[in-house]
Amino acid sequence: MKNFILMSGTGSYLPIKRISNEDISKMVDTSDEWIQKRSGIKFRHFVDKGELTSDMATKAAMKVIQNSNINSKDIDLIIVATTTPDLTFPATAVKVQKNLNINAIAFDVQAVCAGFVYALSVGVSMLKDGYGDKCLVIGADSMSKILDWKDRTTSVLFGDGAGAVLLEKIESDNSSQFNWGVLSNVIHTDGNFHDILYTDGGVGKSQTSGYIKMKGKDVFKHAVEKLSNSFIEALNKANLSTSDIDWLIPHQANQRIINAVGEKLGFNKNKIISTVYYHGNTSAASIPLALDHAINKKMVKNGDFIGLQAIGGGLSWGSSVIKYGKPTK
Ligand code: ACO
Repeated sequence: MKNFILMSGTGSYLPIKRISNEDISKMVDTSDEWIQKRSGIKFRHFVDKGELTSDMATKAAMKVIQNSNINSKDIDLIIVATTTPDLTFPATAVKVQKNLNINAIAFDVQAVCAGFVYALSVGVSMLKDGYGDKCLVIGADSMSKILDWKDRTTSVLFGDGAGAVLLEKIESDNSSQFNWGVLSNVIHTDGNFHDILYTDGGVGKSQTSGYIKMKGKDVFKHAVEKLSNSFIEALNKANLSTSDIDWLIPHQANQRIINAVGEKLGFNKNKIISTVYYHGNTSAASIPLALDHAINKKMVKNGDFIGLQAIGGGLSWGSSVIKYGKPTK
């Protein structure tokens, strides 16, 4: 018998407050035309005063529990990927556990915009290692709290939100034919590029959270190369090729990056999920939000092969290949 880790359900949450490019133009010297042309973003959502990352993460978790028709008490692990925790400690996942009123092991993973693929990799490994049978992997970020409204090059790009997936461990003795679930994960880090995307403050440095700073052109080049290369690596690990993949879900940072990655990998545009127009860059929430959106729109279906790709500060990046859902028989 061999263990397989299914990705069997999704849920998401976006704050009610929706901010258009026209709204942003009243806050910094920019325009709808510039933002759309350079990034593809039209809207983003911002948390309201008093609304926390854990509130969004809890709402996304409740959705996936409801959509998957499971008892919340059966969840063994909660992993929240976030860069914008409620507090320096305890972890945001701990608050989610309290809100759900369950006994799961709960902790955060911090890999910025790559946080979801990192947390997914940790969740898969822990389920395989026997820490339980069901794991919630949540990406949640309130990026609006670390935007510098004096810097128009970064403040126009980000939004807030949360997305969650359910991982379930199952056993199969038919391992050669059973290819459902998370088929491969690859994650990478290169600290040599720590200064092209970072915050200018933190607990140790300034006792503040700091604001986002970015060398946009450098990030752009690394993103196209690293998203593409890590995805090929993940495909090889899963013994699949691009033609096997039904849907590609790249990190939703910028439509131009998404287009360039799609072209480099030879993906037809209508096989690439993009929500950047509606959500902006929601950092760790970007992939699970886009996946949940695609499922709700009846694009991604049970049994589809999907590719996930993310990159963020660090630099940290990675890709995953998944056969989504669960066998029906
Ligand atoms: N509104 C209007 N004008 C602006 C704005 C703005 N918001 N921001 C910059 N400009 C101006 C600049 O001042 C510059 O003017 P100048 O020519 O008179 O000097 C001009 O627009 C061009 O600026 P560039 O920085 O060269 O613009 P570029 O084409 O590189 O686009 C962008 C900037 C969108 C940030 C781009 O570099 C990019 O997409 N980078 C990828 C990074 C990214 O998406 N990061 C997201 C977070 S990281 C992640 O999630 C992986």
